[in-house]
Amino acid sequence: MNSLSQKLRPLDGSSSQPLYQQLQRSLRDAIDRRLLAPDDALPPERDLASELSVSRITVRKAIDGLVTEGLLVRRQGSGTFVCARVEKNFSKLTSFSEDMRARGRTPRSVWLRRAEGTVTPEEALSLRSSPGTPVYRFHRIRFADDAPMAIEYSTVLASCLPSLEAVESSLYEALEKSGNRPVRALQRLRAMLFSAEQAELLRANEGDAGLLVERLGFLKDGNAVEFSQSWYRGDTYDFVAELSAPT
Ligand code: GLP
Repeated sequence: MNSLSQKLRPLDGSSSQPLYQQLQRSLRDAIDRRLLAPDDALPPERDLASELSVSRITVRKAIDGLVTEGLLVRRQGSGTFVCARVEKNFSKLTSFSEDMRARGRTPRSVWLRRAEGTVTPEEALSLRSSPGTPVYRFHRIRFADDAPMAIEYSTVLASCLPSLEAVESSLYEALEKSGNRPVRALQRLRAMLFSAEQAELLRANEGDAGLLVERLGFLKDGNAVEFSQSWYRGDTYDFVAELSAPT
């Protein structure tokens, strides 16, 4: 079997680009060209450093960069692996946390905002509630392991949760506990480019491609429960739908 160093573009010690950046780029390249496949393990940092004749710090920095980009993942006790892109079945009404766990990733959120509010006239139509109806607003950055995947703004009818604090790590878990998990949803997906602010939150670059996913979730009785807007990093998420021919 070829060693990893033989698959990588050689590093150039005389270039003005730091070695760790060169290594990061050639590892990224190897992942893009599938020379390193999803779920492949990287050799230990020590071995990679000696194969490539660079310091361990150089290897560590290159790997750190790719972990941040969401291309590699460190699994405690077992090493560093190439991340499979997250594939999301577009027709299943699952939560972010469930999607990540189903793929062996650990979901995590950084809270941007958690506030009480009321339905605005613009929201009234989508939430099918009158302006002034109490709502809770949850703004989060959603992570898979250490990689930021999406910025998510959710508005939930306050009558569906016991309190603003009821949501811990998962909104759907909290709604389920209250018997108000959505059973049906309308979802819309749109391509977009990240603004400077969004890019910073997602450790991406301004102008990078993203996907805006809007979900309007309904209860069994037909009333709306949530309206969420999620801005996903386009480079880490695939939406997949199974289609059947019209009968
Ligand atoms: C997905 C959906 C959102 C939903 C969220 C709940 O991201 N697009 O509409 O609010 O899942 O996720 P969790 O239960 O992990 O908070």
